[in-house]
Amino acid sequence: MVKAVVLGAAGGIGQPLSLLLKTNPSITELSLYDIVNTPGVAADLSHIDTPAKVAGYLPPDDGLKKALTGADIVIIPAGVPRKPGMTRDDLFKINAGIVRDLAKGIAEAAPKAFVLVISNPVNSTVPIVAEVFKKAGVFDPKKIFGVTTLDVVRASTFVSEVLGDLSLAPKVTVPVVGGHSGVTIVPLLSQSSHPLPSGFSQENLDKLVNRIQFGGDEVVKAKDGAGSATLSMAYAGADFAYKIICAAKGEKGIVAPTYVNLAADKEGGDALKKEIGRDLEYFSAPVELGTEGVAKINTLGKITAHEANLIKAAVPELATNIEKGVSFIESSK
Ligand code: NAD
Ligand code: LMR
Repeated sequence: MVKAVVLGAAGGIGQPLSLLLKTNPSITELSLYDIVNTPGVAADLSHIDTPAKVAGYLPPDDGLKKALTGADIVIIPAGVPRKPGMTRDDLFKINAGIVRDLAKGIAEAAPKAFVLVISNPVNSTVPIVAEVFKKAGVFDPKKIFGVTTLDVVRASTFVSEVLGDLSLAPKVTVPVVGGHSGVTIVPLLSQSSHPLPSGFSQENLDKLVNRIQFGGDEVVKAKDGAGSATLSMAYAGADFAYKIICAAKGEKGIVAPTYVNLAADKEGGDALKKEIGRDLEYFSAPVELGTEGVAKINTLGKITAHEANLIKAAVPELATNIEKGVSFIESSK
């Protein structure tokens, strides 16, 4: 029995994500919460002939608490998306408060659930959830995840395009580490399961790295004011949620990059901090998932001098983003 909850379920990501979760036969209960429209979305999805029992909740009558009670996994795509010209950090002003209040609800009603944070800026919203949980005395670093899967999905797609064969995309794996915004997104292309063509120039490598780092901007620009990635994000979010569920059920060997508190695995976290040369509290690393969430944080392994420089460039921005999230909760009542 698995109960999944989507907070922000009526939105651009929330609806297709809820659809994909409804089609997952391992989910038996699906709770949809938003400030608008969830009864309609839930009624619509409930006609699909898959096992999950679907219910929609709105804020009145303790809707958040009702949605969350008994949750095994909570996915948060609530909050505003970017418009052209904005950075993810520009969303902090609105989304920090939304994520804080939802985290308070989870800490109260479902403190043992796996929490998957999609709302931007992920580099700051994950620390916000963690700090709320710390204040409530229910913090377990193994169970809070920043969803960076879309960066991994993009890397697979863009590398397969470079290789001239999109049919390779589902098989191409590239670890993408660091965080989830611009230069904090660091693809380790030297570790791609499918190496780049021999003679691939530094100029082309720079272009590919840049495309992965700024893939979100590509979509924001194309949507021209109508929001950011929703469909590819729903796909990536459902994929990561499924990995968490499979690992929780005991499947071994599932490794995925995700943005976590490095205290989730002290030994692995400390080794990673040594590698990146900075005592960061959060980092997106390849994480081995287990029944309790984070089982092991893997180090980066062999990387090129170019990749080491990308990490170096990512670290100061990550540190600032983390501090911003932490101090937001420290200073709020
Ligand atoms: P959207 O505006 O289409 O949907 C957001 C939904 O959140 C809306 O339905 C809104 O009613 C709801 N919402 C607002 N306040 C809420 C609250 N207090 N409680 C519950 N629900 C609330 O936006 P979207 O395109 O779905 O994007 C959502 C977020 O996901 C944005 O912050 C965006 O930047 C982020 N995002 C992250 C990634 C990633 O890779 N992690 C990728 C794409 C988008
Ligand atoms: C993405 O990477 O597509 C998301 O973080 C949304 C955005 O603002 O780019």
